[in-house]
Amino acid sequence: MKTTAIIGGSGFTQISSIKIIEQKTYQTPYGSPSSACSIGELYGQKIIFLARHGNPHTIAPHKINYRANLWALKQAGAEQIIAVAAVGGITPAMYPARIAIPEQIIDYSYGREHTYFAENSESVEHIDFTFPYNESLRQQIILSAQSLKLNIQASGVYGCTQGPRLETAAEITRMQADGCDLVGMTGMPEAALARELKIPYACCAIIANWAAGKSTGEISMPEIIINLDQGMADTEQLLQQFFLTQTSL
Ligand code: HPA
Repeated sequence: MKTTAIIGGSGFTQISSIKIIEQKTYQTPYGSPSSACSIGELYGQKIIFLARHGNPHTIAPHKINYRANLWALKQAGAEQIIAVAAVGGITPAMYPARIAIPEQIIDYSYGREHTYFAENSESVEHIDFTFPYNESLRQQIILSAQSLKLNIQASGVYGCTQGPRLETAAEITRMQADGCDLVGMTGMPEAALARELKIPYACCAIIANWAAGKSTGEISMPEIIINLDQGMADTEQLLQQFFLTQTSL
C-alpha cells in the first residue's frame, strides 16, 4: 500500500471525505510550496493533499513553484501522485464535464523552473520521459472508474500552455494538428519533476470547457464552473474508489 499524494487543481482545493489529521508546512531548497500539505486518512490510508494554486486559489499557473511543491510532497512521504487538473477539450471525445486520464504530454510552456538538475551541472541526469505518466498508476485509476461505471476517457495527449490567458483558436488548431486532445496550463513541469524525483505520477484531467474555437462563442467562466462542479463530484467518487481498492493491495 503506497502513500498517495493528490495535487488539487482549480476548484479542487480539498477532498471532503478525507479526515485531515494535520497541516504541515514544508520549506524546501527551492522555496515555499503553494500551500501546506494536508495530511489525512481515507479508508485507513495516509493521504497527502496539496493545493497547486494555493488555498485560497491565488497562484497563476506560470507562477507556481512546481519544484517546491513536488519536493514538499516527497518530504511528506508521497510514494505516488495523482494530479487533478482542469483542462480544455480539443478532440470530440473530450467534451466538457468528462474526466480523461491522459497518456502523453506535449509541453508548450516556457520560462518555468523545470528541473532539479539546474544547479549542479556535474550530476545532470537525463531522465527517460518516453511515457510521462506512470502506466500502472493510470491503469489503477482507470479500473476504479470502470468499477464505478464512470464514463471517462482512458487516453489523451495533454498539451501544456503557458497561460494564464486561454489560447487563440489558431493555437488550438495547431495543437490539434500536433496531436493534442486536451489543453491545460499546469501539467508541466509537474510531471517531469515527479519523474526526476522518481515518484510515479498520473493525471486526472477534468474537462472544464471546449478549447478555444471548438464551440460557438467565447469561453465563459460560469460554463467552466458548472462543468468543473460535475467533473469534481465524479473525481471525488473516483478517488474514493481508488483508495478503497488500494487497501487490498
Ligand atoms: N485552456 C487551457 N487551460 C485550461 C482550459 C483551456 O481551455 N480550460 C481549463 N484549463
